[in-house]
Amino acid sequence: MKLCMIGTGYVGLVSGVCFSDLGNNVTCVDIDKKKIENLKKGIIPIYEPGLEELVIKNYKNKRLNFSTNLKESILKSDIIFICVGTPTKKGGSAADLSQVFNVTKEISKYINKYKIITTKSTVPITTGDEIEKIISKKNNKAKFSVVSNPEFLREGEAIRDFIYPDRIVVGTNDVKSNKILKSLYAPLISKGSQYIHVSRRASELVKYASNAFLATKITFINEIANLCEKLSVNVEDISIGMGLDKRIGSRFLRAGPAYGGSCFPKDTKAIITTSDKFKTDLSVVKAVIKSNENRSKLLLNRVHFFLKNKIKNKIICFLGVTFKANTDDMRDSSSLTMIPYLNKKGAIIKYFDPTGVKKDFVKYKNVLFSKNIKSAVDKADLIIIHTEWNEFKSINFRSLIKNKKTIIFDMRNIYSPLKMKQQGLKYFGLGR
Ligand code: UDX
Repeated sequence: MKLCMIGTGYVGLVSGVCFSDLGNNVTCVDIDKKKIENLKKGIIPIYEPGLEELVIKNYKNKRLNFSTNLKESILKSDIIFICVGTPTKKGGSAADLSQVFNVTKEISKYINKYKIITTKSTVPITTGDEIEKIISKKNNKAKFSVVSNPEFLREGEAIRDFIYPDRIVVGTNDVKSNKILKSLYAPLISKGSQYIHVSRRASELVKYASNAFLATKITFINEIANLCEKLSVNVEDISIGMGLDKRIGSRFLRAGPAYGGSCFPKDTKAIITTSDKFKTDLSVVKAVIKSNENRSKLLLNRVHFFLKNKIKNKIICFLGVTFKANTDDMRDSSSLTMIPYLNKKGAIIKYFDPTGVKKDFVKYKNVLFSKNIKSAVDKADLIIIHTEWNEFKSINFRSLIKNKKTIIFDMRNIYSPLKMKQQGLKYFGLGR
């Protein structure tokens, strides 16, 4: 099939490359000329394991193409995927849909035969209805279907998630487009993936409800971890004990710093806006947002406690600053709250992240990038393990730490408290 992905951000690029690898003819379009030129040379704008190899392979065999020519790309395609950004509106909580609607207007001009217009970007419920209205108004002769097909790709695992999805959700209000989408996904369905056909609005809501639920699950275990600390109970035991109940499940029950990333913070806010608009109260999700916003403050209070309220001139080392491992993404990472705060209090921050220097911290005096783990932890008063990169999982702290008083605050519960204690290390995790 001939596909056009509009927007070569995370969603559009990963999905486009994977669709081409399944044998489709895919054009990834973007207004950013430099990005398109780079992609043609195999230069990838994001850090995602396995993506570069797939781009180069499929570009060489000509199943994958990159272009800035929206008109030409739409004209030759059967299915158009809208994959542009839907960020939170400045100063508000609703999603900014200006990019989606601008692209819709462009698409409406070039519908020369039956086409399927699919939203892959996370769009508020009823956006599909709006897209349909805009196209019908601009081009009353157009034959088209508007479909919702959300992505559930995790950063760092996106290719695997695309090839082996837990489910493929397609929301259409007509039979024809469902049949075509089902045949597009046939190679994944034949390998055992579940294909679910629902109404378009339902599909839009599945995406938001899924992310809101996962954010709730994480926030729940984070609050249970707070209680565990008071009770001298290990939260890991609680996660195992709860997770073995098949109705609950063990995934996304790991206590950690405040959740971040490009989806959970944005989507929880956006679903609240939708529920307010339709006059219902998603009070659980509201509580989740509040709890998550408080989480960094709460963990910073523990830092105050560890350092006996003397933060000034203390050397604090951050191992990992991205919101999670296997990504270079800093969006809504809790390090963006914690590092500036500690810096303002007079601490000297040394951070190491496998994905390199972060522009977010360049403006701060005394927030310094270290080239490796050794130089980051060297002489630190406090080491904060912020992100669960594999390379942080077997550090020999005993041999690296020069300062006997150094405290290790493991926000990902990577190490065994007992083993760390046996080595004479001052080690603290979360909820244990
Ligand atoms: C998420 C969804 O998982 C994905 O389906 C959606 O399409 C996009 O948003 P992603 O943002 O890549 O994916 O990250 P995810 O792996 O879900 O983690 C989100 C945040 O939750 C991270 O900050 C992570 O550290 C945190 N987290 C996750 C926990 O604190 N504990 C957990 O058990 C799991």
